[in-house]
Amino acid sequence: MTPYEYLKETAGKRMDELFKFLQFPSVSAKSEHKKDMLDCAAWLTDHLKAIGLTARIYPTGGHPVVYAEYTADKKAPTVLYYGHYDVQPPEPLELWKSDPFKPVIRKGNIFARGGTDDKGQVFAHVKGVEAVLKAAGTLPVNVKFLIEGEEEVSSVSLPKFIRKNKKMLAADIVVVSDTAQYSSTLPAVTYGLRGVVAAEVMVSGPNRDVHSGSYGGAITNPIHALCAMVGQLHDKNGKVAVPGFYSRVKPVTKWERKQFKRLPFNQEAYRKSLGVPALAGEKGYSTIERTWSRPALDVNGITGGYQGEGGKTIIPSWASCKITMRLVPDMDPTDVSNKLERYLKKIAPKSVTLKIKKHGGAPGVVVPMDGPWLDAAGRAIKVGFGKNPLFIKEGGSIPIVSDFKTILGLDTLLIGFGLHEGNAHSPNESFRVVDFENGCRTAAALLFELAKVKA
Ligand code: BES
Ligand code: MN
Ligand code: MN
Repeated sequence: MTPYEYLKETAGKRMDELFKFLQFPSVSAKSEHKKDMLDCAAWLTDHLKAIGLTARIYPTGGHPVVYAEYTADKKAPTVLYYGHYDVQPPEPLELWKSDPFKPVIRKGNIFARGGTDDKGQVFAHVKGVEAVLKAAGTLPVNVKFLIEGEEEVSSVSLPKFIRKNKKMLAADIVVVSDTAQYSSTLPAVTYGLRGVVAAEVMVSGPNRDVHSGSYGGAITNPIHALCAMVGQLHDKNGKVAVPGFYSRVKPVTKWERKQFKRLPFNQEAYRKSLGVPALAGEKGYSTIERTWSRPALDVNGITGGYQGEGGKTIIPSWASCKITMRLVPDMDPTDVSNKLERYLKKIAPKSVTLKIKKHGGAPGVVVPMDGPWLDAAGRAIKVGFGKNPLFIKEGGSIPIVSDFKTILGLDTLLIGFGLHEGNAHSPNESFRVVDFENGCRTAAALLFELAKVKA
């Protein structure tokens, strides 16, 4: 029996297992889900053991890491798979057509939080390994799985874990499926990710909410102050106005510009799919350049004052917002967040108190675009999806990828099976059944293709 025949025969069982994995509400951001995180990690560990790997849970300062391995032949290459079992909060729940943690298939799509980001994708590799193990009795390469529970909260504990377990994690190449294909008909290999760094801004006014009749006109309203500051984060050309923000940003190369132009991209369909009246961004750049090769700054949320039913005549005591900046290679997360802090302090009115909480971040990465590992990935995708992959970049971030290079000295193959229409982080997240199946087949093929690479 070939691994592909095995995958075909076990398709039903495999979907049941994926559904089990998807049923854990493993929301890393919320402490109320701590137990669900543990249960999910335990289930995954048991599953990895059941398919024939040595697996265990490693506690960290935060949510645990699941680690598994199979040593086939000391002389063969070793592949380190990385993925995450944590998911984004599912809210707003009322916009989901079905329960985010009760997976269902509708029109060929698996609907569940984590379907595409990242449970469905990492599970494809688990099942690809299982298929080859079952069909051949062994693997053509050695495999290690590192599946964490904190990716969606910026991988807070993982760098330390990697530094502490360098030997255990030693490998020849890292494989990550946590990105997207270029489109529903064009699979892709991703060669670049943006980095990310986050900050929270708190603007305080009076020491309590006060009557807006008695005090209106006498003090600065913190919401006004915050909004005015937010309004100064970009200039009229769509550039980020933080001084020095672009100081380390390299221009988009001629080569990249040409490559991006070659990709099939329908600006109007893109606009329509988002339901916006027009696209907008940094002047002088295309949409693809803006999201793949230029940095960005966004306010993710803003709060303050009275939002309940009816009216309440107050000047609120405070207003706050959360900001993330997307970084391209060479931008340093700490440097950039220091620059943001300096700028906000400069533009804040003297009549309010400003507090800024800076969170850690991760730099952008570019991984090699050629070489034997990449060729192997391309051939595996051809087997799994029936098409050669495009080479693309991604505007999102996978924080730990830069650490694989700096701590472990390893390059990463980013082979995404998802789609942007899969609604990662949004209501009604989904993963196409065909992409899951093609992903499993790609994963099986990848083992043989990587085995051919002479390290
Ligand atoms: N899988 C995504 C990265 C990604 C985003 C790939 C968009 C393809 C398209 C990952 O799980 C993610 O969401 N990362 C976060 C990191 C953040 C929480 C530090 C991100 O990019 O916002
Ligand atoms: Mn992800
Ligand atoms: Mn995500």
